[in-house]
Amino acid sequence: MTDPSSTIDWDELRRRAIEVSQRAYAPYSHYRVGAAALVDDGRIVVGCNVENAGYGVTLCAECGVISDLVAGGGGRLVAFACVNGLGEPIMPCGRCRQLLFEHGGRELLVDTPDGTWTMDQVLPLGFGPAALDHLREAQG
Ligand code: THU
Repeated sequence: MTDPSSTIDWDELRRRAIEVSQRAYAPYSHYRVGAAALVDDGRIVVGCNVENAGYGVTLCAECGVISDLVAGGGGRLVAFACVNGLGEPIMPCGRCRQLLFEHGGRELLVDTPDGTWTMDQVLPLGFGPAALDHLREAQG
């Protein structure tokens, strides 16, 4: 069986993530993040972190990715890469795992410091749209 991660151009995704990390707005943490994802129609969507003087209002790079996805016509995320200012792969924070789960599901492939993981490994037993569908169907 073909390994689905072998058909993904990870180098290109990492390159796009590094490129967009250079446009991050991170005057408070100085921790630049760039993220890029492959969509099921072949598009690549990107985002960088955008900090705020109200620290809690900061947008993670993944928020930009999801906004780019939806604003560009939607679709499902197939593969995702995220890097720090050194170009090293980093893990999405907890909140962003939830964002990615919504738009990529359990099968989304994630570039991690330990290699390619599925979203199901990154966010085991994640809560998602299926839980809401289940209740709606049960209630009739
Ligand atoms: N950050 C992201 O952009 N994505 C993550 O998944 C982890 C954290 C950003 C938020 C903040 O601007 C900086 O990294 C330090 O936390």
